[in-house]
Parts: sequence; structure tokens; C-alpha cells
Amino acid sequence: MIRHTLLFRFAEEVPAGTRQAILAELETFPERYPAMRHWSMGENLSSRDQTYSHGMSVEFPDEQELLAYLNSESHEQFVREKWRPVIAAQAIVAYEFAERPEADAGREGRVTKHPRGPYGMEYARIEVPDMQATIDFLQYHVGLQLEQHTDEYAYLRADIEHHAIELISAPERTDGWTTAVGFSVESEEVLEEIKRRAIAAGREILPLQERQQALCDNGFALEDPEGLIVELFTEFQEYAEPPSIEIRPLDLVHPFLATTKYEEMLDFYIQVLGFIPSDHIVGSATFLRCEDRYHHSLAIQKNDEHYVAHLCFAMKSLDHVMRMRARALYKGAPIASDIVNHSASTSIAFYLHDKKFGPRFELCDSHRVFTPEEHETHRARKMPADPRNIDVWRPASDDWGRF
Ligand SMILES: [Fe+2]
Repeated sequence: MIRHTLLFRFAEEVPAGTRQAILAELETFPERYPAMRHWSMGENLSSRDQTYSHGMSVEFPDEQELLAYLNSESHEQFVREKWRPVIAAQAIVAYEFAERPEADAGREGRVTKHPRGPYGMEYARIEVPDMQATIDFLQYHVGLQLEQHTDEYAYLRADIEHHAIELISAPERTDGWTTAVGFSVESEEVLEEIKRRAIAAGREILPLQERQQALCDNGFALEDPEGLIVELFTEFQEYAEPPSIEIRPLDLVHPFLATTKYEEMLDFYIQVLGFIPSDHIVGSATFLRCEDRYHHSLAIQKNDEHYVAHLCFAMKSLDHVMRMRARALYKGAPIASDIVNHSASTSIAFYLHDKKFGPRFELCDSHRVFTPEEHETHRARKMPADPRNIDVWRPASDDWGRF
């Protein structure tokens, strides 16, 4: 590429109207000379050097195109008849340069280059043997607010989103079981894109659960390779205000999926849905993000069983996490993994688990959110399977207990 830069100053006696006409004509140059790229012009703002009052800069693909412009009859005529009579001083520099792809990627960080994925996690649907006991648990120990409740189902919410947990009464079960997870999608276009990728990958497009259809604009569902239903939709309904509960989660951040089909699951969530790996624990787990830019809105772990291992809720602060922990200790609610410091997602958390109520519930104080630029450029780290990579408050590489 060639960058051609012109610095100039009008002669003092030139009237304002003439100056404006010259500047206006320069502005038409990119249309007149289609080889021009990134044309710009402006007044000199420098307080150190006012030798020139204006600068103009433009790029050409190569020197030949620059010369074609400079030597063109229209340019020559402009310079001869209009430019020289009014310009008191000028300087020109033209130089060749190589484009810096990494710098361009940074500048265009807000323009996504990867295929768009879902926006973020909204809810999990859990079948539970004892609905009332589960509601009591989620209200007191997780801080959710009950919004709707029949004999068959219940909706509980964390913040303004319509619900974060949907419970389905399943007295035939002994343990709670997560049957579906819901992710919002930012637009109809992205929803269509995901659907196209799913069809191309041979996945069956399923309708949303009937009640969910009434709670969003549009959507569909897919079964992941383990049979977990993933519901995707636009315009999930929301309340005007969050619940007036002081100690409650602010957001449902991610599900953590244990799988016997690790590679297949990664392929489905990355290639079809459009999640992006944020970090890997080599050979054992991958943390994946989507468009809400949390470090992970999904985690997939290699396991010898398939189940939704936990759901992560972000609280307002570490203080609120510790108050929930105090409630758990006070009531003897089972803490499956006590206070841990996840370095990768910069969150401090503990995990509650009573099988009757479904997966573990992770309550964390905050969760790393990538900047738009990091979202485009972050390179997923490959970390060894060492407990210190999961909890930095572990003193040694063999301290695998208590998880
Ligand atoms: Fe988690």
C-alpha cells in the first residue's frame, strides 16, 4: 500500500469562500479517483506546529495507482488552475507500507468476524421429585423469587428475566434432573444463522416447549449429543424491575455439562451453536463463551457419565456469597465444594448440592466479562489438569480433594 499525505496552508489573502470551495472539491476526490482508499482531511489541531493549516491523507493499492492519479489530466488541471494560485505552502510525503493485520483486527474489534453464537444463558428446566421442597430450597439458599406455581410447574427468577429456573413436577424421580437449558439470541438474523448451521450439520430442528413459545418472539430447540434440550429464542420476556430481595443472584451465568461424548459435544456447541473456547483444562474440560462475553457461559467436562453438573449464579458481591454460605451452614444444607477461587473466570464461589433438587448450584461473587476486543482476539489457554488451575487456593498439584 502507498500512503500519500499532503500538508498545506492557504495564502493569507485568499477569501473564506474560495478556501471552502477548494476543500469541498478535495472532498469529491475519493469519488473521482476510485483507487483511493481511506481518504481523510482535516484542520491542523497541533499547538506545536502551525506551519500548515490542513492535512489530507489517502492510500493507494500501489505506486502505479498513485502516479495514475497524480498524472491524470483532471488532477493536473486542478493543480494548475485552482490549487497553485491559492496555496502559500505545502509538503507532500508518499511512502509504501505493509498493512498490519493485528492492528486492523484491534480497530475493528466491534465488528465480529467469528460466526455469531447465542447471547447468554437464561434458564434451566429441572424435573424434581418434590416441587415444594425444591422451591423452598431455591428461595432460601439460592435467593430466587417464586413467580408462578401450579401442580405441574413453577417459575423462579433471579433478576428481570422472566425466569432462571423452571421446575417440573416429576414425583416418579428420586433425584432432580435437568432436561433443558435456554439461551437467548440477540436477533432474528443470528437465530436464523444458527438454524442454518444446525440444518447443515444434520441436526433436527424442534419446536420450543409450548409455554416457552409464549414467553419469547421466536425460537427453536435442538438436542445436544447427550440429549439435553437446548432452547434458543429472541426477546425473552422480562419484568420491569428485579425482585425486591436484597440477597439474590443477579444472573444465571452458565451450565456445566459432564459428558461421555466430549469431542462430539465440543463440536456441537462450537461448530453448530457458535460458542467460542475461552480456556481448556487439557483433556478434561473446556470453558466456552458466547455473545454476553462472560469468560464462560458454558463448560463441558469429560466424564464417565452424562449429567448437568452445576448451574452457576452470580451474586452481587463476595459478601452476599458468604451470607448464602452462612445460611447453608446454619441449615445444614450440603456444601458440595466449599469456597474456591476460580482464576480463569476470576470468581470466588461455593457449591450447594442436594440431589433431590437437581444439579449443584454454584454461587459466585462475579465472573470475568471480556471486552469486545478480547472477545475477538482472546487466545484460549491450554492449562494442565492441576487443581490450582481450577482453584488457586489449592496449595499443591495433588490437592484434588474437596471439589
Ligand atoms: Fe461454574
